[in-house]
This record gives sequence, C-alpha cells and structure tokens, in this order.
Amino acid sequence: MKTTISAFRADLGGIGGHLRPSATVCSAVSDYVRSELHSLLKDTDISFTGDDMTIVATHTQGCDDRAVHEGLMEALRCGARQAAEEGLYGAGQDLYREAFSGAVKGLGPGIAEMCFEERPNEAFLVLTADKTRPGAFNLPLYLAFADPMVCAGLLLSRKLHQGFRFVIMDVAYAAHDRVVSLEAPQDLYDMAALLRSPERFAIEAIFSRTTGDQSVAVSTARLHNVAGFVTGRDDPVAIVRVQDHFPSTGEVLAPYAIGPFVPGFLRGSHAGALLPVRRNTGVSFFDGPPIVSGAAFCVKQARLTDAVDVFDHPFWDHAARQIAEKTLSIRRQGFFGNAMLTLDELSQSDIINIIRELDDRFVTRKPKAS
Ligand code: 13P
Ligand code: MG
Ligand code: MG
Repeated sequence: MKTTISAFRADLGGIGGHLRPSATVCSAVSDYVRSELHSLLKDTDISFTGDDMTIVATHTQGCDDRAVHEGLMEALRCGARQAAEEGLYGAGQDLYREAFSGAVKGLGPGIAEMCFEERPNEAFLVLTADKTRPGAFNLPLYLAFADPMVCAGLLLSRKLHQGFRFVIMDVAYAAHDRVVSLEAPQDLYDMAALLRSPERFAIEAIFSRTTGDQSVAVSTARLHNVAGFVTGRDDPVAIVRVQDHFPSTGEVLAPYAIGPFVPGFLRGSHAGALLPVRRNTGVSFFDGPPIVSGAAFCVKQARLTDAVDVFDHPFWDHAARQIAEKTLSIRRQGFFGNAMLTLDELSQSDIINIIRELDDRFVTRKPKAS
C-alpha cells in the first residue's frame, strides 16, 4: 500500500494585517480535521508560517484524491469562516469559490503532494515559506541536489552519484502548466539559467536518477497570474524526502544559512533575505521579512512521528542574525533599484498606472533641424 503526503497551505486571514493567524482560527482547522477527517486520513500536522496555515496529512488514497482534497479544503474553509467572524485581515484571502483550473488544485491553497512506497526508514521534511513565492526554493534545492559543494553525498555515495532530474515550471505562463525536465549534472548550466529567476521559474519536483523515485514536491500555484488580479502571493510549501538515495537532511537544510534574497516581502513587491525561523512564527518587520520554517518527520504505515522543528537550534539563531543584516542592508535603499521588484513584476500594482498617467507630461526632444 502506498503512502501519500498531502501538504495544503493557505492564508486564511491574519491578526493586525498579514502577520499571523489567530489561535482560534488554528483550532477551527484542527477541530474540523479531528472530527470530520479522522477516518479518511491516517495522521495530520497543523502549523503556521507567517500568515499562512499548513495542514500536512498522510493517507493511503493517492495523489489528487477528491475526498482528501475536498476534506482538507473544507478544513481550511472552517478556518476562513472563523477568521471572518473575528474580523481578521484578508479572511479567506487564498480560498476561492470558483476554481480557476476546474479542480481543488485551482481553488486557492498551495498544494504539494507525493505518493510513494515507504522505505523502511522514511524520513522527510516539510518546508513552508511566507512573503515569497515557490521560486524561493530554487537556490536551496539546486544546491542540495546538484552542487557537490553542498551535497557531499554526490561524491560520497554511489546512491546519489548519478544525480537528479528536475522538473521546472514556468510560473508566469497563465494558460496551463508549462514545465521542462532537466537532468543534473548534464543540464546544470541550463538549469541555472532558469532557476536564477525565481519570479519566473520554480522547481516543481525532483526525482532520483538512480531509482526514479520522487524526492521533492513544491506547490507551484500560479494563482496570482491565473486569477488575473492581485490575490495572495502564492506563499509556497515543499515536501522533501531525505536520506538513502536522496540528499541527507543536513544537505537539504544547509543552503538556508545563505539567506538568499527572494522576491516577495511587503506588498509582494520587494526583495528580502529568506530568514529561517521556528515553526509557528509570525512576521513583523516591513510585513516580513520573507521567512521559511521546517518540520522533519518519519512516517511508518502512513503514521507520523512527532515533528522536529528543524530551525529551532542555536546554530540558526546565529545564521539568522547575519541574514537579518542582509535584509536591513537592502531595506536602507527603500524603493530604489534591486530593493523593489522590476516593473514587469509589479504589473498588477498601481505603479504601472501612475507611470502611464505621467505619459502626457513627458516631452520628446527632437533634434533641431540644422
Ligand atoms: P501575504 O501574501 O503573506 O498575504 O502578504 C501579502 C502582502 O502584501 C504583505 O505586505
Ligand atoms: Mg496575507
Ligand atoms: Mg502569506
């Protein structure tokens, strides 16, 4: 019997703005899961990162199962109703009544899902990020799966030596899912050419080239493009199976010490250094900064162990101080240059109209006839 991990993430509303959900919203979600979904699901873990709630559910129904998806969707709706009752900001922000793609997948939550035959020791991580986009995982995953400077296993273990297959999505393409499959190490430079643009391309999945097994699934919702108006910012969730034929937990976590600049942050319009935080941490500075939290689990017959809070360690407190310095440093230049996203990226904000309204005041200096 295969085990399925389904991770659903959604912004159901925040206290005081886009900061964090209320305890009662979290309970509304977990109460529904406990009372209504206990026979469908084997186990669940519920947490929040910034203003986004994540339900991790294990079951044996396979990927894209209608009952599971509708059940988890209803749990999130319960949270959104509770948020609306409390007057939370942006209550139900990420849940739509109508699907944009005709399935629960298009109804708003970010979904990462994986179905596999359990290994005897099935270890995996769930990483969730707020105030950024799915492409925020590009650099950490690239380094963990394709760069021997980080992934020592590529040199030290035959199980990893053949490398990995990356499936990368063009998240700006609104009509359909547009993806490309590239192999590391052969296609490394082509991969880098795409992954350098997290606002345009995002890793969707990674597979072992030795076994063909899937290690990574990232929610690559394109909702704020598909919807055609400014919605939530597609804050992402990733499932990463680790160890054996996959990189080790340490190899997957190490790149987060870099704190790469990612798009998102205040009004989804700025660059900030991705800060690793403990589970159930809100945001604060400049509606951010962009944060990532992580839980490590083992799963046996679809039953989860306790979650280990992977960034809850003195090492990460030290790294976080350096990463916060990066964010403070770029914030000093305010709206200027790389601190704010490009006009293309801001195409759904009013700056485009403001610049258009200035058109009439521009004059063109034509060369004088001699
Ligand atoms: P979220 O996408 O996390 O709701 O943040 C939106 C925003 O505009 C913050 O300033
Ligand atoms: Mg929000
Ligand atoms: Mg959010």
